[in-house]
Amino acid sequence: MSRLVVVSNRVAPIDEGKQTAGGLAVAVLAALKKTGGIWFGWSGNVVEGESQDQPTLTEAGRLTYATLDLGRRDHDEYYNGFANQTLWPLFHFRLGLIAVSRRTRQGYERVNAWFADRLHPLLRPDDMIWVHDYHLIPFGEELRRKGCTQRMGFFLHTPFPPPELITALPNHADLIRELCAYDLVGFHTVTDLRGFLDYIRQETDGQVEQRGDEETATVRAFGRTLLAKVFPISIDTAQLESIARTSARSRQTERLRESLVGRRLIIGVDRLDYSKGLPQRFEAFEQLLLSYPEHCNRVTFLQVAPPSREDVPEYIAIRRELSELAGRINGRFAEFDWMPIRYLNRSFGQRTLAGFYRAANVGFVTPLRDGMNLVAKEYVACQDPDNPGVLVLSQFAGAARELEEALIVNPFDVEGVADALQRALTMPLPERKERHGALMRRLRNHDIGWWRESYVDALTRAPYD
Ligand code: G6P
Repeated sequence: MSRLVVVSNRVAPIDEGKQTAGGLAVAVLAALKKTGGIWFGWSGNVVEGESQDQPTLTEAGRLTYATLDLGRRDHDEYYNGFANQTLWPLFHFRLGLIAVSRRTRQGYERVNAWFADRLHPLLRPDDMIWVHDYHLIPFGEELRRKGCTQRMGFFLHTPFPPPELITALPNHADLIRELCAYDLVGFHTVTDLRGFLDYIRQETDGQVEQRGDEETATVRAFGRTLLAKVFPISIDTAQLESIARTSARSRQTERLRESLVGRRLIIGVDRLDYSKGLPQRFEAFEQLLLSYPEHCNRVTFLQVAPPSREDVPEYIAIRRELSELAGRINGRFAEFDWMPIRYLNRSFGQRTLAGFYRAANVGFVTPLRDGMNLVAKEYVACQDPDNPGVLVLSQFAGAARELEEALIVNPFDVEGVADALQRALTMPLPERKERHGALMRRLRNHDIGWWRESYVDALTRAPYD
């Protein structure tokens, strides 16, 4: 079996006991343990002066972490700049928020080339290389330029928008050419794949071949042949079910329950990001209290929102906006013994959250646009099957494609979302159980192991020409 080399901007904490590992980290660690391998990327540290010259190698069984500190300029131009002020808003359909600058674009290309340079000496001829997310689109082409012929796959964790949006990016064709340097390019949903294929059809003289399967296509473009395919990421369903059973009785869950004194609970958990639709979500909760005043002093909305990308102006602005909004809504509706919105700018470990999800009557997941959204899947897996809560889910999260039995909402329609909350809070037990049962069947069949295996299988079969 070939060794696997995983490349991602963020390398998960080396201490696996830490409970912060997201879907990517869980999947990647499991794959690396099986085949042995390297996990290469940014250490998460920013240093004054130049970026670290040689990677720090840390062995953990058959797995080697290879991480690099970024110098301030590289971090500003590559991570804060092109990745998070250009590609992130672009891929989340927010053209009004994109910053376009040659300096950050060059920084992005430069850091990708530099990363590739640092990984190159660690590679063996038979390795399989799996690159993750929008920070690293040019990485594969940089390796190819150095003569690497290994199988290389890319997976995009964000949405991929239609070509009408991509073309707003200067030199967009270069970015798509860089994507085509991989043998396999994976997306979360058919919509994302279609965005990529439509770009190839409309903006290049390349060809797309789809044989009756809307989830898979062979692409011939920029002198290369690659497979583009849908692989919806998922969670470790069985493990989470078991954690939630235990966490249901944890001290923190008990404390949360006691603090509610019999009130119902709505929960939201998101990085503090403008793509998550938090202002509209707060307004929808306010609308619930206005349209259905019987919930006043009967329902609490707990929103966990750890700050993210705090150097980027749009993230500073959304943080301020939400603080104001939470303050205004609470000031308007609170009683001396009830705070409608509990708004927390901090994170919790997976075990704690699992207990909170289980205690919540409604999971409130309403991004304006999201690649997949694993919180939606986690909320479902953590429910008590005998008395499950209801998921209210945005139609614009990748997860809505699979989680059809959730209450699917348009997050821009504040009144419609308030009505869905009302429906969730009043849904009879048999209907809740039926919906939850159907959702769980899908999450058990398509868990994180299935995602990883199907991707690695497809990569093993490369090249595709
Ligand atoms: C999204 C991206 C990931 C990223 C994560 C956290 O899920 O798709 O690539 O790691 O957000 O963001 P951060 O900027 O803190 O890595």
